[in-house]
Amino acid sequence: MSKETITNIKIEKASTSKINEVDFSNLAFGNVFTDHMFVCDYENGAWQEPQITPYQKISLDPSARVFHYGQAVFEGMKAYKDEQDDIWLFRPKENFERINKSAARLAMPEFPEDFFFEGLNTLLKLEKDWIKKGFGNSLYIRPFVIATESGVSASPANKYKFMIICSPAQSYYGGEVRVKIADHYSRAASGGFGFAKAAGNYAGQFYPTSIANKEGFQQIIWTDANTHEYLEEAGTMNIFFRIGDKLITCPISDRILDGVTRKSVIAMAKDLDIDVDIRPIKVTEVIEAANNGSLKEIFGSGTAAVINPIAGFGFKGDTWELPKIENSFASKIKQAIMDIQYNISEDKFGWRVKV
Ligand code: COI
Repeated sequence: MSKETITNIKIEKASTSKINEVDFSNLAFGNVFTDHMFVCDYENGAWQEPQITPYQKISLDPSARVFHYGQAVFEGMKAYKDEQDDIWLFRPKENFERINKSAARLAMPEFPEDFFFEGLNTLLKLEKDWIKKGFGNSLYIRPFVIATESGVSASPANKYKFMIICSPAQSYYGGEVRVKIADHYSRAASGGFGFAKAAGNYAGQFYPTSIANKEGFQQIIWTDANTHEYLEEAGTMNIFFRIGDKLITCPISDRILDGVTRKSVIAMAKDLDIDVDIRPIKVTEVIEAANNGSLKEIFGSGTAAVINPIAGFGFKGDTWELPKIENSFASKIKQAIMDIQYNISEDKFGWRVKV
């Protein structure tokens, strides 16, 4: 099979469900998975018959390329349940397009759109009981592609596995988030693949982030690799600064993830009559604004994190605390976006898609 519409996804249902073992009021992010998964293999130059199977381990040859050269890309999406029990996705086409952009950069084959959406919709219908109602509850969806061909030759694989797994989710960060501004390590360089949601972009952050964790920060705000003068993005989020009444975020480049929540924040802020400036932003500008009191807010945006206010930041050993403000831009924008996600408000942007 290749491009034709799937009329029948082969479905093997789980004989029992784990759902009653899960405490939905106390979920750590990404630890519990639903009963089924979507799987589709690529070989002989084409995507093969897609399947939904019980969630289970997969078996790969130890020499599979993904283990050696990190040929792996992924996405993060969420499904929401409204008060009428309808299930909604938020701008899913953006995720579909981005996984294929990421795949292309890592010399991996594109996944067909009809396979992606039919697989996703069928899986979500099967897992509908795992999606709980109520603000903050969602089903985190993780589509990913890995190179499965065996052999350690350093070249793109000819065999891949596309999968979708799902995990019930609440908030990503449990408490206040403080960030360290990078002054030594870098996340991505120009001409590299920082824009891709590639596994290696995250692995490369673990070590510097673990150092930052020991210093009391939950995340790093990455700066440009050449000068460390310009603020780019945080490890799992894009980043926004409010100086005075202006919301500032840096432009997208080949070093920065083109976040779906980021572009929704920009559109929503404009709709709420917030002045948005998309331009390079210097570390020194933010420090000066923190020192003279005009830095009102910093917040991160991402699918997992939604919109997460930053309580304080550090740079080269100094630290700054952000003021606690009522009616923050972060809370107004977050509320307006979540009202769309949970089918509470009218969706004039056309972002909400029914499953
Ligand atoms: C997401 O927000 O979906 C992400 O992919 C971040 C993740 C590494 C948890």
